[in-house]
Amino acid sequence: MNKKTGVKILSTGSYVPERVLTNFDLEKMVETSDEWISTRTGIKERRIIDKSQVTSDLAYNASVKAIEKAKISVDDIDLIVVATISGDAPMPSTACYLQKKLKAFNATAFDISAACSGFIYGTSVVKGLIQSGQYKKVLLVGVEALSRVTDWTDRNTCVLFGDGAGAMIFEASEQDDDIVSSYLGSDGSFTELLDIPAGGAINPTTEETVRQRLHFIKMQGKEVFKVAVTKMVEAAFKAQQLAGLSDNDISLYVPHQANLRIIDAVIKKSGINKDKVYINVHKYGNMSAATTIVALDEAISEGKVNKNSLVELVAFGAGLTWGACILRINF
Ligand code: COA
Repeated sequence: MNKKTGVKILSTGSYVPERVLTNFDLEKMVETSDEWISTRTGIKERRIIDKSQVTSDLAYNASVKAIEKAKISVDDIDLIVVATISGDAPMPSTACYLQKKLKAFNATAFDISAACSGFIYGTSVVKGLIQSGQYKKVLLVGVEALSRVTDWTDRNTCVLFGDGAGAMIFEASEQDDDIVSSYLGSDGSFTELLDIPAGGAINPTTEETVRQRLHFIKMQGKEVFKVAVTKMVEAAFKAQQLAGLSDNDISLYVPHQANLRIIDAVIKKSGINKDKVYINVHKYGNMSAATTIVALDEAISEGKVNKNSLVELVAFGAGLTWGACILRINF
């Protein structure tokens, strides 16, 4: 029998827009305060995409960094997968816009939609497609321009989100298996807890849907919070169980950065060591599919990930979706 094809992780890269929007800036836009936002979410500021940029520009900037670090040519890339819910357009995929910008014309390109769990879902999709023998060098991107689908008059949501992108490059390998395990879940009975109600088949775009501001993110925050904590704890544990690993084997946890209180509740409920948890929510807010990969890239750049160590990403998002993956970082 042929040896099973594994996956080697070659590099990561990330990019956030230059414009910083602080809590104090938000105080001038809606009835809120730095004190409310800081105590309820841990967020101090977030990055906002420039008027001249679109989602695929953020993805491009993160991808170029990852491609350079991996020392590969764009021509080597045979698959581009983009996780996003705030892409360039409803059609075609942001992956195709990114392909055009990268001039990566030897690749197949498509998007996946799993909201904030998108990057983790992406690692599973990439692993399966590499193991099937169909693709050998893959670019996976988590990217969001959430500021374009945020209602800047709604204080319940506008204080939470930000824009950014992260990328990872994988290659088929006979020796390595750097996507050590992954566990994914979803529950469609919670679709209404977090959604963009209009612009699809349920509520096609009309003057009325625009007037009612239904093209922006709507959220039932408290309900999302509860499911998020339970499912992140469950996912983190299940991904370890699937690999026969335990907390002791994980050197760094990179949770979805939606809210510091959610992260703290996950730490408390799971009993994991707080010192092993990477946090950057104060700088960027919730960048949905981009959060875990931007955080991982920053943790690596800051020297917080030892070579050949195991990192666990854990997330939840609209759907509701959730998931965790354990990655070996050895580059
Ligand atoms: N500034 C000031 N007040 C605000 C506010 C803001 N930005 N946003 C909401 N409020 C008000 C509400 O109007 C409400 O007022 P009311 O009681 O008079 O109706 C009150 O604050 C709600 O406060 P509280 O119950 O303490 O909020 P909370 O502890 O549930 O925190 C969230 C709200 C949104 C921060 C919290 O529910 C949350 O983080 N949920 C998860 C959201 C998330 O992560 N979503 C992304 C998933 S990927």
